[in-house]
Amino acid sequence: MKKVYIETYGCQMNVADTEVIFSILSGAGFERTEDISAADVIMANTCSIRDNAEQRIWGRIDSFNTVRKSRPGTVVGILGCMAERLKDALLDSGKVDLVAGPDAYRNLPSLLAAISDGHPQIDVELSREETYGDISPVRIDKGGVSAFISIMRGCNNVCSYCVVPYTRGAERSRDWKSIVREACDCFASGYREITLLGQNVDSYLFEDVDFADLLAKVAEVSPLLRVRFSTSHPKDISDKLIETMARYPNICRQIHLPVQSGSDRILEKMRRRYNREWYLGRVHKIREVMPDCGISTDAIVGFCSETEEEFRDTLSLFEEVGYDSAFMFFYSERPGTLAARNYPDDVPQEVKNRRLEELIALQNRLSLESNRRDLGREFEVLVEGPSKKNPDELCGRNSQGKMCVWPDTSHKPGEYVRVRVLDCTQATLLCREA
Ligand code: 5AD
Ligand code: SF4
Repeated sequence: MKKVYIETYGCQMNVADTEVIFSILSGAGFERTEDISAADVIMANTCSIRDNAEQRIWGRIDSFNTVRKSRPGTVVGILGCMAERLKDALLDSGKVDLVAGPDAYRNLPSLLAAISDGHPQIDVELSREETYGDISPVRIDKGGVSAFISIMRGCNNVCSYCVVPYTRGAERSRDWKSIVREACDCFASGYREITLLGQNVDSYLFEDVDFADLLAKVAEVSPLLRVRFSTSHPKDISDKLIETMARYPNICRQIHLPVQSGSDRILEKMRRRYNREWYLGRVHKIREVMPDCGISTDAIVGFCSETEEEFRDTLSLFEEVGYDSAFMFFYSERPGTLAARNYPDDVPQEVKNRRLEELIALQNRLSLESNRRDLGREFEVLVEGPSKKNPDELCGRNSQGKMCVWPDTSHKPGEYVRVRVLDCTQATLLCREA
């Protein structure tokens, strides 16, 4: 059997895709290896979201080529978003034998079969229907507690800075029955937490089942199965969804609600299709219905023409919401996007860096404040395994998604434990068993 090694970059959706790819390849007689030096096929499932993501992968392609030169016949493949964005340019580099975009994975066995010396293969066709709904992913997470389930693919939003609609194509929802079946399979094989994934889960629609309906169906698989989801778009997150979450204690109290900017002019330029007031209204609604709900976000600083004052609007919005956590980036121009075509990338890199540092410093304080509010509280935690720092401690997350550690060697991964928070850092709640 030929051995396949895959490195996965980018978002959780890519992790879920790699699991689909392993399933397709194992059906065609390939075997998975985690040892690059034993691999006949070396692949990277890639990300194009920012230039530094791509630069990192180019570096990996060079390392793969060192292996390829020392072992002629080894195949190097590039999958995912970078494959879709760069297409033939990857083959032209002479460093890659196979290029396959996000909707081409069913063809991987035939593409691999067609590669013989000097015959590189490429398939970057995007599809309006492909959801890989019938494929049972081969889980790559060894813990066996938490699994990703992809519920839709693609994105129709076309935010002006974003490459995803070009790399992942149009939005399509997977049949809810296959999603519920996959959740049941996960639970039966011991998983206790699933995360439903899509670029914009709130616009899920299959037949007459919307995302709130889907969430309820998955939550009903078992009260012992925790359900999370990502990512919500502020313009689409509905009252129905928020109220559905509140009805099911096993739907985790955590919403990732990327705001991107606190300035109305920048939001408009980003084509986000909501303003600051609308966003704050959604946060208010979430907290009214679920006062204990964790809220996290993504933000971009230094978008085209962003002034100092507009950046301050992002800082003040972070303060106003008091996020539990956030992913923060400086703007990276992506060729072909609306912003790249229409607006100059005119905020100097030093200014971007300084704004990013300032925002991260603010969020560090907000994360610590958020954790301090939990001192003395009790939470139910799903055990993931031993803590990384201390083998006499276990770690796991509470419903809000916060990492908890506590002295314990008696519980197993997948069990629920009640803990009380005694102390905290900015990143972790330090607890004891309640
Ligand atoms: N530059 C910087 N950050 C970006 N993101 C998306 N596109 C870009 C870009 N061109 C960020 C957004 C998004 C997250 C996944 O990545 O904040 O929510
Ligand atoms: Fe990266 Fe976006 Fe593609 Fe995910 S969808 S891999 S974040 S470019």
